[in-house]
Amino acid sequence: MATSVSNIHDQRLLILDFGAQYTQLIARRVREAGVYCEIHPFDVLASFILDFAPRGVILSGGPESVTFADAPRIPDAVFELAVPVLGICYGMQAMADQLGGIVQVSDVHEFGHAVIDVQGSTELMATVNDGGRGQLPVWMSHGDKVVTLPPGFAITASTSAAPIAAMECPERRLYGVQFHPEVTHTEQGADILGHFALGICGCQGLWTAANIVEDAITHARQIVGDEKVVLGLSGGVDSSVVAALLSRAIGDQLTCVFVDNGLLRKGEAEEVERSFAASNALSLSLICVAAEDQFMSRLRGETDPESKRKIIGASFIEIFEREAQKIPGVAWLAQGTIYPDVIESAASKYGKAHVIKSHHNVGGLPGHMHLKLIEPLRELFKDEVRKIGMHLGLPRSMVYRHPFPGPGLGVRVLGEVTKPRAEGQREADAIFLEELRGADYYHKVSQAFAVLLPVKSVGVVGDARRYADVIALRAVETTDFMTARWAHLPYELLERISNRIINEIPAISRVVYDVTSKPPATIEWE
Ligand code: XMP
Repeated sequence: MATSVSNIHDQRLLILDFGAQYTQLIARRVREAGVYCEIHPFDVLASFILDFAPRGVILSGGPESVTFADAPRIPDAVFELAVPVLGICYGMQAMADQLGGIVQVSDVHEFGHAVIDVQGSTELMATVNDGGRGQLPVWMSHGDKVVTLPPGFAITASTSAAPIAAMECPERRLYGVQFHPEVTHTEQGADILGHFALGICGCQGLWTAANIVEDAITHARQIVGDEKVVLGLSGGVDSSVVAALLSRAIGDQLTCVFVDNGLLRKGEAEEVERSFAASNALSLSLICVAAEDQFMSRLRGETDPESKRKIIGASFIEIFEREAQKIPGVAWLAQGTIYPDVIESAASKYGKAHVIKSHHNVGGLPGHMHLKLIEPLRELFKDEVRKIGMHLGLPRSMVYRHPFPGPGLGVRVLGEVTKPRAEGQREADAIFLEELRGADYYHKVSQAFAVLLPVKSVGVVGDARRYADVIALRAVETTDFMTARWAHLPYELLERISNRIINEIPAISRVVYDVTSKPPATIEWE
């Protein structure tokens, strides 16, 4: 193994998850500081914690109360490591409780913005406000609070509602903060977490795009050897980055299969072929399969969303398998699984309160294919995937495009999917995205698309009555796609989009805008 491979993972932090909404943000802030870290459930085995040998541990917040008898506990192994430990919110309360302090249910629940008074004796917050003193705007979200310090600890910050808003035991390098440094509302929170990872835990900041790419390439070469790999390329960010990485790593041992199922965005098939032909980063062997007729005939008469998803998934697998079998000696299947998928499936084993997505990357190939799985993005968050995509020289338009669901237009043409209906949706969608780009709104929203509704509506175009389909426009702002706010697009922009759709697409008589956030609605309509 090349030295760089062990190095970038060796200096790592362990984040123990007590079930907070924000745990992934902690990991992202630590990674942004250039330090590798992993999230594991709080009740992971002690032997795992010791073997993991982190340079520091961060205990997340969580929904429980340490005042309950069966409250989640910090494993003793964490303290046996004798490395710096930072407890955030519940993590701080659990630390106080287990080390001899007292935590009580507070009369005042602090939720939202707060200002703490930081004391100059702090190591953890030494980099904020020119030496860790004075007032610091933070984000609080707690009911319980620490009322008595454990032995050896000192108070390092206070608010009126929480006199012990932060505490430290410098001798043992134990730190607790009641507020959430991982959220952007805590303006200097990233500095605090970065200082913990680099200054206090002594990591070097090796987790950079260049090092990640080099590490992934070395790893892929090692495990694949001289065998062949097949990848289902969708044109989305994740599979494109996998393609670019593996083509760097193993060259023509990689074959990508792109299935045009007739459910793609306007011009998408051509764009994928063009990008791959034009970009040096993507010079690889690509098989494009034209399968629109096959998908459409299988979808005929089907209106149930779940059945449509199943038909689309099964048809994809069938075609992909047929193409893969034509590649002599293929032994590996590459997939664009990313770290949040890995965390979610691990968390579910421990029964924690996480939202589990019911949809996944193109996956689930039949077992009889006996392909080994290679997932080069398994350790990476989406923002890291994008960074390495840019580092690998992929076009910006590909790296920063909105996500597109596996079943494509199949879940955006509500009711029966036919060629003409898919065409109507595709045209409206293209107009919507073109206008968003023109008005500089494409990158201000996280995802935007048109949905063709299964209802008809009366309109008047010129002097003629038009009884035709209805298009709903959906645009959302989100960071994690688990929750989302509908985008407050300017009325003038919506008006222009609506006019163009009605004027340019005879099959559409009406345009509506979706003003529902997630929850309660999902982002896609089906
Ligand atoms: P929902 O609709 O669940 O979507 O709020 C959250 C995000 O996931 C995308 N999505 C999918 N992605 N296969 C995918 O690969 C799917 O079946 C699928 N369904 C939804 C959706 O576009 C949004 O970004």
